[in-house]
Amino acid sequence: MSDEVHGYIESNRERFREELFDFLRVPSISARSEHKADTRRAAEWLQQRMGEIGLETSIEETPGHPIVLGEWRGAGDSAPTLLIYGHYDVQPAEPLDLWTSPPFEPRVANGRVYARGSVDDKGQLYLHVKALEAHLKTAGRLPVNVVLLAEGEEEVGSANLMPFVEQHARRASADGIVISDTTMAGPDMPTIGASLRGLAYFEIRVRGPATDLHSGSYGGAVVNPATALSRIIASLHDENWHVLVPGFYDDVNPAPEFREQIRRLPFDEKQYLEETGVPALGGERGFSTFERLWVRPTAEVNGMLSGYTGEGSKTVLPAHAMAKVSCRLVPDQDPEKIADLAEAHVRRVAPAGVEVEFIRMHGGRPWRARLEGRLVEAGAKALEKAYGRPVVYAGEGGSIPIVPEFERVLGAPALLMGFGLPGENAHAPDEWMSLDNYEKGTHAAAALLTEFARR
Ligand code: BES
Ligand code: MN
Ligand code: MN
Repeated sequence: MSDEVHGYIESNRERFREELFDFLRVPSISARSEHKADTRRAAEWLQQRMGEIGLETSIEETPGHPIVLGEWRGAGDSAPTLLIYGHYDVQPAEPLDLWTSPPFEPRVANGRVYARGSVDDKGQLYLHVKALEAHLKTAGRLPVNVVLLAEGEEEVGSANLMPFVEQHARRASADGIVISDTTMAGPDMPTIGASLRGLAYFEIRVRGPATDLHSGSYGGAVVNPATALSRIIASLHDENWHVLVPGFYDDVNPAPEFREQIRRLPFDEKQYLEETGVPALGGERGFSTFERLWVRPTAEVNGMLSGYTGEGSKTVLPAHAMAKVSCRLVPDQDPEKIADLAEAHVRRVAPAGVEVEFIRMHGGRPWRARLEGRLVEAGAKALEKAYGRPVVYAGEGGSIPIVPEFERVLGAPALLMGFGLPGENAHAPDEWMSLDNYEKGTHAAAALLTEFARR
């Protein structure tokens, strides 16, 4: 990358930040229908910024939130094409009272910007836009052809992006896909993501009596839906936190070389305890924390609801109970198959006297990087230039369902070049992004274009 590009990013630091803060002020919460217009406003804002720097842009409608596309094809047919993907939607901000400052009023403190969506994923997406700008405003061109695709439904499962990519495979076709939506192993540890877990998400509803009942008049003779649901949930694990759904581990492919790599990464237990606030770590017996997070599948309760939870006490046998449950998946587990197995298990263990409904929500496949080839090499070079340190390759516990689909449909490899940090509070109150990473990420994203052109 030229010194000019580097200098441009440094001298526009303040403006780049202010623009990100404007982006963060738009509450583009994809899960909430009352924020539908805001979500579109974020898409339009982004389209506007992408147009201003010289990309050819469009808003692509879907049955849900729109997709923003930006293209620059001036590098010619002999140059490679890079697809940059990110998401402009964010998670709901609740619980609001736990935020130090309002989630959609960005606040700067300790070198961080605090706001919902700061690190997940607006900051990490927007730094790519600024990297493109740095090239276009200095050299007047990009070293490679670029397609930038920003979606508004990542946080709700990307259901409309999958068919879009299939239908527009020609237009989106690329030699590599870069995604900045993951976490670094630690501060100043530039990281390439080596894997993502998949997901199978479902809701379990348990119905008992037609209406809430007096727990004295009926309790003991009528099965309690809250207790029945608790039994179902308790049946998901044994005492070693091994998942008990029959067939659950059948397709787990251990990849011994990856486990070996994981063993070499330093793990700071004390810091992890501080970050999470738990008194002790716990998980599947026989595995280290990184293994539990990156190469082992899980079953987790995301939320439960039943009965009386207000002030004081109320003697009541609730009419229903519900839980939202998700399984994180590892290669080569299949989300549909896992949902089938989980449903069969839930129906088998459900006690008589209640009715159980099993509702499938979204899912996504797990992914493992090949960690070789020109894209990953270019990514490693770019990150090393930006941070002045060698890259580390780390697994990721989270999911980005479109990544394996991109690779399958477009036939190109994906590079996870993430700029999040441990403790960033993604999906939680007081989410933040490091401003140093916002800038270094911009340098890395700019260098990636140069390095990718060179190989
Ligand atoms: N950026 C995350 C994914 C992520 C988190 C990757 C942590 C690596 C480390 C993404 O926005 C996300 O939250 N994905 C959801 C996917 C789901 C809604 C289908 C997730 O992982 O829960
Ligand atoms: Mn994200
Ligand atoms: Mn997220």
